[in-house]
Amino acid sequence: MESIFVNSKNVFLDTANPKDYIRLDRASVIYQSLKDSIEKPLKMILLYGKPGTGKSMFLTKLSLDSADKKNVFLYDTPILDESEFYKRLAQDVFKTKYEGGLNFTQFMRIVKDKNLNQVPVVLLDEAQLYSEELMEKIRLLSDTRALKFVIALHKTEKEDLIAKEHFQTRIWETIELENSLRAELKMYIQKKLMKANCFDTASMFNSKIVNKIYKLTHGNYRDTNKLLYGLFEIYITYEKNNQLYSIKIDQISTKFIEMAAIHTGLIDA
Ligand SMILES: Nc1ncnc2c1ncn2[C@@H]1O[C@H](COP(=O)(O)OP(=O)(O)OP(=O)(O)O)[C@@H](O)[C@H]1O
Ligand SMILES: [Mg+2]
Repeated sequence: MESIFVNSKNVFLDTANPKDYIRLDRASVIYQSLKDSIEKPLKMILLYGKPGTGKSMFLTKLSLDSADKKNVFLYDTPILDESEFYKRLAQDVFKTKYEGGLNFTQFMRIVKDKNLNQVPVVLLDEAQLYSEELMEKIRLLSDTRALKFVIALHKTEKEDLIAKEHFQTRIWETIELENSLRAELKMYIQKKLMKANCFDTASMFNSKIVNKIYKLTHGNYRDTNKLLYGLFEIYITYEKNNQLYSIKIDQISTKFIEMAAIHTGLIDA
């Protein structure tokens, strides 16, 4: 029989797969506002927040939820080469295949000529990696209103500045993601486990345990994933060595949480 700890560990692999999306009170409201905003006559939408707050998860979910409309395009890894960027957009969005290089002027012509009746929405993840020059072009492309961009980027001081310079005078909306609240974190952990049928381990996370996790991760989803992945790894090791008898399993061992926190660098040894 597969160990319940192995299944539980895999629940916390760090991937942004929309199938693993968990509905959480506050995040759902924010997700809905993102979904609504792509229907509004905005040129650009800025989705920002610290690393691990769920931006990529939102974009992949938005892309999946809009799949039947066929006008939403997700680029989860940045296309750093300018010509390559236009070519990909020309092909995916405007169904125009281009051999050789494609420059901004040529691409702009395609955008204007095609004039699609439904404004395509381009989702750009990790946008902090795009150059200033390309961001400027993206801004000009949005001005045509023939294309709409959702820009997801990390929130740092530098990006705050970029955001200001690029978007100040534009018609845009900002959507900010934050770490989860304590109550949301409990829901997050339990729902994630229950979705994978790990009911026994889900019930091991009572409020006291979640408080401890919250203190370590401040509700950051990625840090929580890392911590819990490490935690279940410890359970698996103890189980393999038949050492679990000395550990209570009606609730998560705080000692194991501390070990996992040291292991993942959340606290110093
Ligand atoms: N609502 C949610 N439901 C399920 N999992 C989530 C949710 N929000 C975030 N996560 C998980 O948290 C982790 C971090 O989320 P994500 O990768 O989307 O963060 P990010 O904001 O894009 O970070 P970065 O700025 O580093 O790219 C992922 O493993 C993701 O699966
Ligand atoms: Mg991301």
